[in-house]
Amino acid sequence: MNHVDPDAVVRAEQATWTRSAPIYAEHTAQLTSHAVSHLLDAAHLTSDSRALEVGCGPGHVTAMMADTGATVTGVDLVPAMIETARTLHPDIEFVQADAEQLPFGDDAFDVVLVNFSIHHFTRPDVVCAEIRRVLKPGGRFVFAGPIEQFGFGAFIEGLTTHHTMEVLAHGPLYLEATREDYENLVKDASFASYDVAVRQLTLRLPSLEPLLQTGWEMCELSELPQDTQNKIRETTVQRAAPYRTENGYAFPDRIVVGQATK
Ligand SMILES: C[S@@+](CC[C@H](N)C(=O)[O-])C[C@H]1O[C@@H](n2cnc3c(N)ncnc32)[C@H](O)[C@@H]1O
Repeated sequence: MNHVDPDAVVRAEQATWTRSAPIYAEHTAQLTSHAVSHLLDAAHLTSDSRALEVGCGPGHVTAMMADTGATVTGVDLVPAMIETARTLHPDIEFVQADAEQLPFGDDAFDVVLVNFSIHHFTRPDVVCAEIRRVLKPGGRFVFAGPIEQFGFGAFIEGLTTHHTMEVLAHGPLYLEATREDYENLVKDASFASYDVAVRQLTLRLPSLEPLLQTGWEMCELSELPQDTQNKIRETTVQRAAPYRTENGYAFPDRIVVGQATK
């Protein structure tokens, strides 16, 4: 899996999420939250649990974990995300660290949750081994990641119709991931048991604004000529039109949802 320069991936991730941190909680979080209830069901958190979210962004999922009464910590690579998370959720512990080197002892957590971040990791196999290390024996790793995203896909079609971008340095699961890729990760990390399934989950958006705001920040589109920006927006709206509903949009995304026990 080590076919990319890990430092280049880290630089690309740092730049993307530093730029996106100010809009993430309001906009991007709406694109990544449709599997969270499934993860929380699988996590079985109680007030006695100690839990970790890896790749927590601005901490909205960490906060949902904390609502169960569990003691939770969020970890993210990007300082701007950690600062935002601390501002939005001052009662929760957030730590800046690379998921490849989690700053916790062995057997420390009952649950580790990763939502929509594994595909951003340079070496997800290294991260999985690290997650297994910090879990207690019998502890649960629960995760979700995108397989096919119709909402984000509409934006990508709008983007690629009118603009050519250099593909950013990325890890092995970024552009093409299958259920088997995710299953192999937990299998190869020697979890005692696991269940990895693809679910069709509806991404509901009140408007396309979360999608457009996210796309514009992630891809730095405000640097483009206004005419090109207008065309990207128009094509995105056209491609999303089949998913329009009375209340906004409903995209039938395919998401991998997994759980594994140490
Ligand atoms: C798409 S966001 C997901 C955020 C959040 N979990 C959610 O559900 O919306 C991916 C996050 O992974 C973080 N990330 C990327 N590489 C990382 C690494 N090596 N270690 C820790 N976090 C990382 C990014 O900084 C970013 O905040």
